[in-house]
Amino acid sequence: MKNVFITGIGSGLGKALAKLYVDKGYTVYALSRHLPPDLKDINFVQADLSQLENVKCAVEKLLKDVKELEIGILNAGVLGEIKDMHETSLKELKDVFDINLWVNKLILDTFLDLNINIKQIVAISSGAAVNCNRGWSGYSLSKASLNCLIKLYSHEMPQTHLTALAPGLVLTPMLNHILEEVDEQKFPSVKRLKASPKMSPEEAAQLLYETFPKLLQYESGSFLDVRKM
Ligand SMILES: NC(=O)c1ccc[n+]([C@@H]2O[C@H](COP(=O)([O-])OP(=O)(O)OC[C@H]3O[C@@H](n4cnc5c(N)ncnc54)[C@H](OP(=O)(O)O)[C@@H]3O)[C@@H](O)[C@H]2O)c1
Repeated sequence: MKNVFITGIGSGLGKALAKLYVDKGYTVYALSRHLPPDLKDINFVQADLSQLENVKCAVEKLLKDVKELEIGILNAGVLGEIKDMHETSLKELKDVFDINLWVNKLILDTFLDLNINIKQIVAISSGAAVNCNRGWSGYSLSKASLNCLIKLYSHEMPQTHLTALAPGLVLTPMLNHILEEVDEQKFPSVKRLKASPKMSPEEAAQLLYETFPKLLQYESGSFLDVRKM
């Protein structure tokens, strides 16, 4: 069983993970809006995951000949704007929830409908799920909900080991946006992020690749943080 499923490979962590798994000889199946030109030899279906009504079809098309997956990595995510809850509309929160939460529900449902034998599923979560620092509004809420979603599905997928994993700080377009454009006076967590050690996407992908097998020792449905393992 050497098949890997990954969402969100256009940049950052997902792109580095896809490349690493190809280099390790896995067959990679990916859903994303963008296929980076330097990412070769993967099975790719282009999908804008914010179009929720198309998610099931895209997964079915991508995995039509796949019976087994070694791991499914639910990586695609969006930050939304860092700003106070009071300033954030329900529409903005909903848009973040669509990608960070509901897409993953639809993907898990499709895995079940297709009856694919999956050893492990890892949803890329965040420390923001529990920190709930000022301004992290929809991102914190959606990642906390993602942790809950994974635990809920762990009861319904007894043959699969599921975890939500915070990957640590990775210098990706998402984190660069926070470091370069968010007001650290108003949102003090940004100051702390600036002072914290960070990994390159390639370093993070290698660390996660080594961490995924270790997750199997924990109870299915757990939320774990790579920095605390
Ligand atoms: N960087 C960090 O320090 C950090 C820390 C904790 C958690 N995370 C989590 O790590 C995951 C990856 O984020 P990243 O840091 O690598 O940021 P990133 O570079 O912004 O990557 C986000 C990924 O999500 C995909 N994506 C976003 N919207 C999409 C859409 N509508 N349809 C399809 N794909 C979409 C993007 O692919 P396309 O380009 O193809 O749209 C991209 O590959 C996210 O879940 C994030 O919350 C990151």
